[in-house]
Amino acid sequence: MSEMPKHVAVIMDGNGRWAQQRGLPRSSGHQAGVKATRTVVEQCARRGIGMLTVYAFSSENWRRPRKEVSFLMELFLRSLRSEVDNLHQNNIVVRFVGEISSFPANLQQQIAAATEKTAENTGMVLNIAVNYGGRNELVHAFSRIATDLRDGQLQPDQITEELITSYTWLADGIDPDLFIRTGGDQRLSNFLLWHLAYTELVFTSTLWPDFDAEELDMALDNFATRQRRFGQTAEQVAATDDN
Ligand code: IPE
Ligand code: IPE
Ligand code: MG
Repeated sequence: MSEMPKHVAVIMDGNGRWAQQRGLPRSSGHQAGVKATRTVVEQCARRGIGMLTVYAFSSENWRRPRKEVSFLMELFLRSLRSEVDNLHQNNIVVRFVGEISSFPANLQQQIAAATEKTAENTGMVLNIAVNYGGRNELVHAFSRIATDLRDGQLQPDQITEELITSYTWLADGIDPDLFIRTGGDQRLSNFLLWHLAYTELVFTSTLWPDFDAEELDMALDNFATRQRRFGQTAEQVAATDDN
């Protein structure tokens, strides 16, 4: 049996459908999604999970109607302002992964302020993936590796899996043990392509605004039933577990 995951990664999907089912605008779904995020962050911290990475806005989400994109930016800004003190009080370290430089200046300031304020905390690390794309992350990593090779800071024989990880936006994190996607779709949508190589995947049809502490515990229970083999046989893994 596996233990608790050290790192949980979540695609928070289904806000729009949650609202549509209630005859509400999609924006109400996003608003309700913030509440679910707060609950899940608190529950993960309570369960002793070391790192939580949540997908809040993908590099492809810019393709949505302009009105929805600007609502999401506003909501993100407002939520950061209102949540950061609570996160800080809970000893949570807040980090952002993604291409932050394309956000409006006031949002970038808020992002920097939240990162700075919580940097010295010692509790759970919360990575918020915004304007994040897995392929974009790798493009950035490879481009920086190429620069360091050119400048003689790096030799070709130093390029290992660990080195590539260290050039990604999740540089000092461990790979997620558990991945959860709500909303019923079973795809990665460009999330953490490099880091999910051996992650246990859990998909649930529950829409994100309905995802709560109990649903999280169900996913953790599901994870606990998985045997992670990393290429070995079940017998080999069982023998190591017995030691
Ligand atoms: C996820 O919910 C939130 C973001 C992508 C910002 P959606 O807005 O994708 O909700 P559905 O998938 O349309 O229901
Ligand atoms: C993935 O959800 C991105 C986030 C939850 C932030 P989408 O709703 O954008 O994914 P697709 O487009 O349906 O794959
Ligand atoms: Mg969606």
